[in-house]
Amino acid sequence: MSTVDSFIHVFHEGEPGTPVALLLHGTGADEHDLVPLGKALLPGSPILSPRGRVNEQGMNRWFTRLGEGVFDIDDVIAQASDLAGFVTVAVSHYGLSGRPIVAVGFSNGANMATATALLHKDVLDTVVAFSGMFPFGERDPMGDVSGVRVFMANGDADPMAPLASGAHLEALGIEHGAAVTRFVRPGGHGITQEDLAQASAWLGAR
Ligand code: MLT
Repeated sequence: MSTVDSFIHVFHEGEPGTPVALLLHGTGADEHDLVPLGKALLPGSPILSPRGRVNEQGMNRWFTRLGEGVFDIDDVIAQASDLAGFVTVAVSHYGLSGRPIVAVGFSNGANMATATALLHKDVLDTVVAFSGMFPFGERDPMGDVSGVRVFMANGDADPMAPLASGAHLEALGIEHGAAVTRFVRPGGHGITQEDLAQASAWLGAR
């Protein structure tokens, strides 16, 4: 049973009528890491930024991995369910029920954001994924994901989030009804100014 204390998190109040920014950090970071980025991308939005609960040799993560890019898919699914439960409770706790939620994630956080939207679209249906990939390995646990919108920004030379995995997410997501938009730029793992500009334009066009 989820409570507002299920995940350590920071919460910043926002202005009325804005979507809630759910920020999911990358491996080794914490709940403070993406707050400036969230404020830049979704100005005026309330910020809900939890900390991943998996500890990998002292690094916070969202789910267990068996190796670089090799995920424990059962754990991805279980953690997505826990996160969805927490978000539901937290949004109600902070008086934000009914507000749209935009999940913004980097790397491991992008993968968690995407997994959560694709499995719990009733909780959140909009994802900005920086340097993310398909989170379910060889599996396809998705049902009907119509209404889910995912924006992905990736580098074309990123060994941690290969373009083929993004292409797989695009193809399978679209097959199940999601809208997937991909922005590919030169370079590797990270978030560039161009990634931010493209994500901002995508959010603005919604
Ligand atoms: C990471 O270290 O964050 C990986 O590139 C992605 C993941 O493990 O989810």
